Amino acid sequence: MRDAGARTLTVALGDRAYPIHIGSGMLAAAGTLLAPAGTRHAVIVTNATVAAHWLAPLRQSLVARDIAVDVVLVPDGEAHKNWATLADILTRLIECRAERRSLMIALGGGVIGDIAGFAAAIYQRGMPYAQVPTTLLAQVDSSVGGKTAINHPLGKNMIGAFWQPVAVLIDTDVLSTLPDREYRSGLAEVAKYGAIGDAAFFAWLEAHADALAAREPDALAQAIDTCCRIKAAVVARDERESGERALLNFGHTFGHAIETGTGYGEWLHGEAVAAGMVLAAKLSARTDGLAAADVARLEALLTRLGLPVAPPRMACDRWMDLMQRDKKVEGAAIRFVVLSRIGQARLRGDVASDVLREVLA
Ligand code: NAD
Ligand code: GLY
Repeated sequence: MRDAGARTLTVALGDRAYPIHIGSGMLAAAGTLLAPAGTRHAVIVTNATVAAHWLAPLRQSLVARDIAVDVVLVPDGEAHKNWATLADILTRLIECRAERRSLMIALGGGVIGDIAGFAAAIYQRGMPYAQVPTTLLAQVDSSVGGKTAINHPLGKNMIGAFWQPVAVLIDTDVLSTLPDREYRSGLAEVAKYGAIGDAAFFAWLEAHADALAAREPDALAQAIDTCCRIKAAVVARDERESGERALLNFGHTFGHAIETGTGYGEWLHGEAVAAGMVLAAKLSARTDGLAAADVARLEALLTRLGLPVAPPRMACDRWMDLMQRDKKVEGAAIRFVVLSRIGQARLRGDVASDVLREVLA
């Protein structure tokens, strides 16, 4: 049953505006909430892990509206967010005669959302797709905003497109089957929103860290709602990341280097972002006067949320090489999101390499 507290936010992008439906029991309403009137065919892209738990109710809600459903199963994991999987999805779309009026539904975590969204962006020059995120990370971040991508062996998310979904459906019940490590990984992105732009939310997270770590439903629902509100507002103001949206990459320059440098899948995205945010905070202390007490608050919050705060061992030259290849590089300058205090972030493209080396030492 859909819960009485279900709510809908909007990503205000003019004629491409779309709803984010959030609540418990939402999968059962997917047919009504996701598929525009007249939809006759849906293609669900998911993996076996997620399908085992959550495919049946989604499929049922579509079939109940006389929508024919095809399912494309892709291998599970970040290591498969690549050309080969993308090619398989495109082949299956052709085989099942998907057309531009078909609706693709990405059912899964950020990996499924990113790769299915990219397939939707390029299949027949663009087909509509909806996001049904099933990890905390995807619910608070990757399902909203239309960034789609695959990885390249030389760099994370290097190939992709901005392609907005037609709707996002967040069923908080699906988190009940999410393994603990994956759940904690999502909490890193939750903490990020407080650190970069909302000191009050950061303080709220400090007060509710234990409740969140224990998956207390009210705290979790409030956190998801707040993160989606922040993300929807940022995307509406800066869809293509020409300014403010780049702040959402706090910790990601270091984090992507960790993910690429250790081989995709070894460190979960949120774990790499957590350790990356601590490095970014230490950098901020040197470049923007972030108080040592604020660095300590960030480390303490992440630790209480069960996240790593120290990066893996990597030679300094390797870090520099990996970060030079990041998408956030402009010219030769690596761009970092830095904090002057908790809740106040800016971009910096002028970090001297000796300062960076001190932080990484
Ligand atoms: P993921 O998609 O790999 O999912 C994590 C694991 O949990 C997988 O094994 C998955 O099968 C499993 N799973 C998913 N839902 C489950 C459920 N309800 N129950 C049981 N198991 C479940 O990882 P993720 O952390 O969701 O996403 C990480 C990816 O998201 C990275 O590739 C990252 O680059 C991307 N990302 C994209 C954006 C964006 O804006 N597009 C933002 C942040 C992260
Ligand atoms: N996760 C960063 C963004 O969506 O811009």
